[in-house]
Amino acid sequence: MNPSKTPLRVLITGGTSGIGRQTAIALAKQGAEVILTSRNESRGMRTAEEIRRMTGNPRVTSLPLDLGTLASVRSAAAQITDQYPTLDVLINNSGILRMKREVSADGFELNLAVNFLGPFLFTLLLLKPLRAAPRARIVMLASDAHLKGRLDFSDLQLTKGYQWLKAYGGSKLAVVAFTLSLSKRLAGSTVTINCLHPGMARTQIWPRETFGERLFSNVVSLFAIRDSVAAAHVLNLAVGLSLEGRSGLYFDRDRETTPSPEASDPALQDRLWRWSAQTAGMVSDDV
Ligand SMILES: NC(=O)c1ccc[n+]([C@@H]2O[C@H](COP(=O)([O-])OP(=O)(O)OC[C@H]3O[C@@H](n4cnc5c(N)ncnc54)[C@H](OP(=O)(O)O)[C@@H]3O)[C@@H](O)[C@H]2O)c1
Repeated sequence: MNPSKTPLRVLITGGTSGIGRQTAIALAKQGAEVILTSRNESRGMRTAEEIRRMTGNPRVTSLPLDLGTLASVRSAAAQITDQYPTLDVLINNSGILRMKREVSADGFELNLAVNFLGPFLFTLLLLKPLRAAPRARIVMLASDAHLKGRLDFSDLQLTKGYQWLKAYGGSKLAVVAFTLSLSKRLAGSTVTINCLHPGMARTQIWPRETFGERLFSNVVSLFAIRDSVAAAHVLNLAVGLSLEGRSGLYFDRDRETTPSPEASDPALQDRLWRWSAQTAGMVSDDV
């Protein structure tokens, strides 16, 4: 990945909590330059400061990003491309799970907006600094919930019959389909993209608002792994030597495996790409 031993520059979305925070800590310990993001500017700065102190690595910074707002995605991407001519690794880690239907500031169903549409636009807007690095990797945090997801193009916003697993699973199905689609478009370039289910981990993603949600989350936590264990799987895709030059793969933790037939369907991938490019307001979808 880095034969020159120059520290890698890694951008990770949502490094303030859970798997992202542990991944950012591990990368900082390895000497990487780490840029993390948060919706809340002071939470991002506080986390970056904690990681600098904890690891002794001064090159950990943060910037504001709300993936549920396309204007925020554009402004963060513009700030990054202005400030950093090259990026070695982009980890699209941020994610949410909503039990009840909510919509983003732009009016899109929130799981789809934050887990997929925002990262879709963010990734494409960052291809310039990624292409400018000698070799670059994109890592997408998917989930095995994508196996239960469906994308119904007649109601992608799930206005009828909202169910959390359908919504979350659908957004992660879109993430896997996008990974496979973009890897084909990047074939022959110096940029690779892979995705993974990091394992069911004890993090803030599990909802705790109602009694029923707390009960559900407590049961999940009995079986869940530590966030640092899930982060090790993310790290493998981000900097692991065995992934050098490999692209378009889906991992269940550390095991390369086959994603769902829907995610692998070229017709679905193309339809999703057209919908996303148009919805995100991209002028051209050339990559
Ligand atoms: N935990 C699991 O069992 C599990 C299983 C499969 C997949 N995953 C995936 O792993 C990834 C990390 O999840 P986690 O479990 O570590 O969750 P987490 O502890 O809740 O962390 C989520 C991160 O996402 C950020 N975030 C939330 N909303 C955002 C928004 N609108 N825009 C930008 N960033 C936002 C948060 O940062 P701020 O609040 O500071 O903005 C936070 O740092 C997610 O993509 C998740 O779907 C997790």
